Amino acid sequence: MDVINRYVTIKSHVDGAPQESDFELKATPLALSLDPGSNEVIVKNLYVSIDPYQINRMKSYSSSQKNSDFAVGIIPGEAIDTYGVGKVVASGNPEFDKGDIVAGLLNWGEYTVIKASGMLNKLNHMGFPLSYHVGILGFSGLTAYAGFFEVCKPKKGDKVFVSAASGSVGNLVGQFAKLFGCYVVGCAGSKEKVALLKEKLGFDDAFNYREETDLKSTLKRYFPNGIDIYFDNVGGEMQEAVIDNMNINGKVAVCGVISEYTDNEKRAAPRMIDVVYKRIKIQGFLAGDYLNNFADFLSTTCDHLRTGKIQPLEDISDGVESAPSAFISLFRGQNIGKKIVKIAEE
Ligand SMILES: NC(=O)c1ccc[n+]([C@@H]2O[C@H](COP(=O)([O-])OP(=O)(O)OC[C@H]3O[C@@H](n4cnc5c(N)ncnc54)[C@H](OP(=O)(O)O)[C@@H]3O)[C@@H](O)[C@H]2O)c1
Repeated sequence: MDVINRYVTIKSHVDGAPQESDFELKATPLALSLDPGSNEVIVKNLYVSIDPYQINRMKSYSSSQKNSDFAVGIIPGEAIDTYGVGKVVASGNPEFDKGDIVAGLLNWGEYTVIKASGMLNKLNHMGFPLSYHVGILGFSGLTAYAGFFEVCKPKKGDKVFVSAASGSVGNLVGQFAKLFGCYVVGCAGSKEKVALLKEKLGFDDAFNYREETDLKSTLKRYFPNGIDIYFDNVGGEMQEAVIDNMNINGKVAVCGVISEYTDNEKRAAPRMIDVVYKRIKIQGFLAGDYLNNFADFLSTTCDHLRTGKIQPLEDISDGVESAPSAFISLFRGQNIGKKIVKIAEE
């Protein structure tokens, strides 16, 4: 059987804030059959992940493209690969059968043809919605879990600050930190998000950073005794203000610097003398380096979901054509929780 496969591409490199006009929806015929022994698999994409780091892949140049196999440059005109969940519709690979539910490197499209070397695994959904496996039980969850427990190495009672706290990674960091016994404050970009953090997700406190004019004194207000751990999702002036408010031996896990992704001139310039005398550890990390922690992360997070100790927070758009606006929304603070595109029904 032949289908028309629609997929999203970039027209050319994107070097500033992404706009709808940077993207194009292409359509090509695809035969849903494979020769046995081809070792290829055709997956009907069901849910795909929408992530800020893709902007670094879309640029003419970014450090990500040189330094991470997961974040190599995207070639204009070609499908944009991403983590997702789908269903096998044709298989020339003995490890997969038609009808298998799988997770792996799919794309912003309706179908993915996966070569033998591609990243694909059968998925045991364990009774959870498939979308969870793209976010809370997928790489966003692993990022929060490994970033908090392995990079920040918290102690009970630590005072933790999380930026982009209502986002996919941030909301989970806050929830993991609360369950572990830390004092947690988050910041986000709207009143609605702040209310959600305090009332639904159990953060001790939260504030809207867009309403604050002096971030250093804002943080002093929320942390009169200083910050022990900063989970940094944004970089920029927030990172500078945090360093000013950190305690001795404080730790900063630099997960991402979204405020700098679309502005090449912008960068955090923390007072390095504070870093020296307060012996602050600042560490960047990539979730892909913590795949050995995946099994532990998955069983802990599934338990927390089953007992209701962790709330999933998803923001799902419908249809492949919504991928560009879903992506753009991340840079405008319009998403609440994990941004996912639902491509099709199972
Ligand atoms: N190291 C890793 O392996 C890894 C893995 C996944 C994600 N990340 C990084 O983690 C961060 C969060 O990713 P995510 O997937 O969880 O996205 P997300 O937080 O769900 O979405 C992005 C959020 O960032 C905030 N934001 C956007 N522009 C901003 C700006 N100029 N200044 C401050 N905040 C801004 C917005 O929320 P507000 O309402 O708060 O503004 C927006 O909702 C990103 O930096 C991402 O690149 C790293």
